[in-house]
Amino acid sequence: MARSPLVDRLRASAPQISVGVLTADWLTLGSQLELIERAGVELLHFDVMDGVFCPMLTLGAPVISGLKTQMLKDVHLMIEEPLSKLDGFVAAGADIITVHVESTRHVHRVLQVLGKMVNATDPNRGIVRGIALNPGTPLEVIEPLAGEFELVLLLAVNPGWGGQKFIASTCERVKRAREIVRDTALICVDGGVTRDNIGNVARLGADIIVTGSAVFDGKSPFENAKHMMDALR
Ligand code: DX5
Ligand code: ZN
Repeated sequence: MARSPLVDRLRASAPQISVGVLTADWLTLGSQLELIERAGVELLHFDVMDGVFCPMLTLGAPVISGLKTQMLKDVHLMIEEPLSKLDGFVAAGADIITVHVESTRHVHRVLQVLGKMVNATDPNRGIVRGIALNPGTPLEVIEPLAGEFELVLLLAVNPGWGGQKFIASTCERVKRAREIVRDTALICVDGGVTRDNIGNVARLGADIIVTGSAVFDGKSPFENAKHMMDALR
């Protein structure tokens, strides 16, 4: 399976942040997104929750499709049986689609199907295939999936809400994940990342670090995004 050209672009910009929209002020979303884009953010993270896999129900493909942006759309699916929904997220312009290994009996098939799909924004771009693991899921589950994913997302909180506390055992998991995937996949850490711990998370070897409430805290998303990005340099 040909690797998405996006992987090289993401690798070249690593480590970088992917900003979660969930805790943004939705009344002024357009101007907030402009601000973080102006701050230099390249990735916008969408937490799709179905109220079944996750306690909360958030947003779906129509919302992702409706948000017009130059930033890459990083779609984190926390939904049961994602296979039948992939088409909608691809049509919505997803550049990264991450599925949870716990969300389907047939995660290998989901990744195979995703590997044949074409990026709706730019057919030459490809779609990065991600697999996500809850904090309680053994890392070894990713080994038989080798060759069928380009990104591993380690949740550092239990799925459900923004603003939760970072689970410390994630640090060991990042190191162990790097040993398993070496340079065959990007590593993403998602949840509980703050101004105080973002530097540590990057030093562990994460390529993409999701940050939601630390950027959208009701004050200045521009300053916050800049601060988080500076912490990576
Ligand atoms: C958790 C989500 C995370 C989280 C990020 O279910 O996947 O993306 O909301 O938000 P913060 O940065 O607020 O933890
Ligand atoms: Zn997420």
